Amino acid sequence: MGSNGTFLDNEEAPTYAPSIPVPNVQELVRKDPFQVPQRYVRKVEDRPKDTDTSYLSSFIPVIDLSLLLMGNNEELNKLDLACREWGFFQVVNHGVAKQVSQKMKDAAAEFFKLSLEEKNKYAMPSDDIQGYGHAYVVSEDQILDWSDALILLVHPSHYRKLKFWPNSPKGIQEIIKEYSNAIRKVATELFQSFSLIMGMDKEALLGLHKQLVQAYRVNYYPPCSKPDQVLGVSPHSDTSTITILMQEDDVCGLQIKNNNEWVPVNPIPDALVVNVGDVFEIWSNGKYKSVEQRAVANYSKARISYASFLFPHDEVEIEPPSHMVDSKTKQQLYKKVRYGEYLRSSMNEKMEGKAHTQMAKIEG
Ligand code: OGA
Repeated sequence: MGSNGTFLDNEEAPTYAPSIPVPNVQELVRKDPFQVPQRYVRKVEDRPKDTDTSYLSSFIPVIDLSLLLMGNNEELNKLDLACREWGFFQVVNHGVAKQVSQKMKDAAAEFFKLSLEEKNKYAMPSDDIQGYGHAYVVSEDQILDWSDALILLVHPSHYRKLKFWPNSPKGIQEIIKEYSNAIRKVATELFQSFSLIMGMDKEALLGLHKQLVQAYRVNYYPPCSKPDQVLGVSPHSDTSTITILMQEDDVCGLQIKNNNEWVPVNPIPDALVVNVGDVFEIWSNGKYKSVEQRAVANYSKARISYASFLFPHDEVEIEPPSHMVDSKTKQQLYKKVRYGEYLRSSMNEKMEGKAHTQMAKIEG
């Protein structure tokens, strides 16, 4: 931080947590599509069940961002309900040009088609989370996720470590920047409405971040011959303020916890999926829910998903503002924590539901 309390433009990119190197899943499947090593097989109780809950997907709220921007009260109420009851919603009329999303999808698909040797030019080192590889692996006996990922810090621009940004296919770096800028605009517009439903001025939520940091994670889920025994991503809640996910229109995978049931988030063409992260839950003193999510694997098709995480600067101390604490019961559910500490402590554990949120909780 600078002496005048602002964050410096030449501040170095933060480093995050170490992760143990593990095999590349796409390569494993390429060598033998029928092998599912024991390290990926979940305990019976953690496996996806075959009860069909997909009809519940249609209850997940759909929010029209263009209505929010016009100050439509009904849409604002819908947003409030979505964040309270689901912690998830899909956004339509979000303003991200179809051509930009399509370019992103085409470039990512090309990147994952490259040989392992090519992709490994951007391999994630064991002491960081940027690059191509796997994060959140903290022990040799941990059950592994059926996926590989490319993880980059995209904003502020001086946090970018370009050695991890692919050079191939041609133009992919520009596409990542263009897509991320478009998503950042959606996030800041959503923040205005979130501020309003929290009873604050339009710009207040953005202001609380001091510096709005943005990370990008492109997940590659190879097909799996035993999709009922593995998970693409372990159950977890996000450590961000919000996450904005673009999924493919024709392959399902994302599931969210609602009323103790795993509900699939079936893709709506061109919509973005937004979820409340832990920071938003803390700032709202638990009014808005950062719910657990996971991804399941697919028998025949690979799936790529594009997650943008928006979160505060490391030095920001997060706690519920006094007006969010119920004036009758005065029950404050979260104590003050430095965000950088919260984030790193969560990364040093394996992803396990909401276990990592414990460090910010006030014991009741
Ligand atoms: C993630 C995540 C879900 C998905 O990247 O953290 O939860 O559908 N992704 O890929």
